[in-house]
Amino acid sequence: MTSHLTSKIFVIGGTGAQGIPVIRDLVSDNKYSVRALTRDPESPRAKRLLALGNVTLLEGSFADEAILREGFRGCDGAFINIDGFNTGEKTETYWALRAYEIALEEGIKFFVYGNLDYGLKKSGYDSRFRSGHYDGKGRMGEWILFQNQANRNRMGAALFTSGPYIEMTIQPMMPMTPTVEDGVVTWRVPLGDGAVVHAASDDCGYYVRWLFDNPDRSNGMDLEVAIEHVKYADLASAFERVTGHLARYIDTDLMAYWNGPLAFIANAPAGYNADPADKSTMNFRDNFTGFWNLWKYGIVKRDYALLDEIHPNRIKTVEQWLRKEEELGRKLGKGSLWDRVQPENASKQAPILKSNEDRRKGKL
Ligand SMILES: NC(=O)c1ccc[n+]([C@@H]2O[C@H](COP(=O)([O-])OP(=O)(O)OC[C@H]3O[C@@H](n4cnc5c(N)ncnc54)[C@H](OP(=O)(O)O)[C@@H]3O)[C@@H](O)[C@H]2O)c1
Repeated sequence: MTSHLTSKIFVIGGTGAQGIPVIRDLVSDNKYSVRALTRDPESPRAKRLLALGNVTLLEGSFADEAILREGFRGCDGAFINIDGFNTGEKTETYWALRAYEIALEEGIKFFVYGNLDYGLKKSGYDSRFRSGHYDGKGRMGEWILFQNQANRNRMGAALFTSGPYIEMTIQPMMPMTPTVEDGVVTWRVPLGDGAVVHAASDDCGYYVRWLFDNPDRSNGMDLEVAIEHVKYADLASAFERVTGHLARYIDTDLMAYWNGPLAFIANAPAGYNADPADKSTMNFRDNFTGFWNLWKYGIVKRDYALLDEIHPNRIKTVEQWLRKEEELGRKLGKGSLWDRVQPENASKQAPILKSNEDRRKGKL
């Protein structure tokens, strides 16, 4: 059996919300170097990665076999987060398959796939829970672990299954962006009494590094992470405790939600380069209706005892995250959380998602 220990990691999605903390933690102590794929090596995020040291950039798209080969060749590890909000579900599926196959052919020793829950399957194949950006990854995650049963000695593989970044609960233009109504921070979302399995983007770095550091244990593993199951009434009361300002959650029916601030985008394809004429393309309304139902009806589970064991210092509550973010935001000059959720400050917030920063434009 070959060793699955790695030292040079090819990263897809490195300039993204998830990729930045992953690369930061991989190169933090010189144990790993990273080759990061980007369509634009001149972007501020790409330059920030270079400044970390031990990072090189490869210009190109994951939707290109020659580029995938060039990216994997000479590396021994891979962290692959294919952006389904660019491609749409159908194209994401194809490039996830090819990325795994080409990685194997090019001699990668350990392959970590940036995954999301296969919600449709976890719901017992009930279409109320269809969300293309979840199923598009979750299906491929299962396929990768299935291939891995035969290939595990040649190339190890693990899934890194995360969830909606908690940062999005305080950012503009997100599915869970709050409004401020008569001085009360208000989350109007179709969540009922359910809970969102939010992940802290910051902790993604630690977990992915752990997968590469511990291949004997992580080979074949689906590491499903989260802070906690976040009920939005609890999010609101934590926000009140941390900021001293009033906050609330208002359960909102789907009709009202889709006639709200997201009405302008409801009919657009969830993937900005997906073909709107292709019947497989899900629009935002359908994609995020399934997404909210996953949380409202408790479809997604997590093993928090396992996460405590793997990452004892992980962020464990939404309140802890809010406190940390309040402190960090003030220190970095972003203002208090209260300031940051005011609509007049929306344009000053640096988006966590690169796709939002790029206004959902860019090549496939
Ligand atoms: N939003 C969430 O809460 C969340 C949580 C977990 C997982 N996800 C999943 O993560 C994926 C997006 O990653 P992210 O959350 O880090 O978003 P992001 O901040 O918008 O980053 C997107 C990343 O994908 C890269 N990219 C996009 N198209 C590319 C292409 N054709 N070739 C090469 N690289 C390309 C971008 O690189 P360049 O622009 O530099 O080329 C960037 O690094 C999606 O599939 C999403 O479903 C999202």
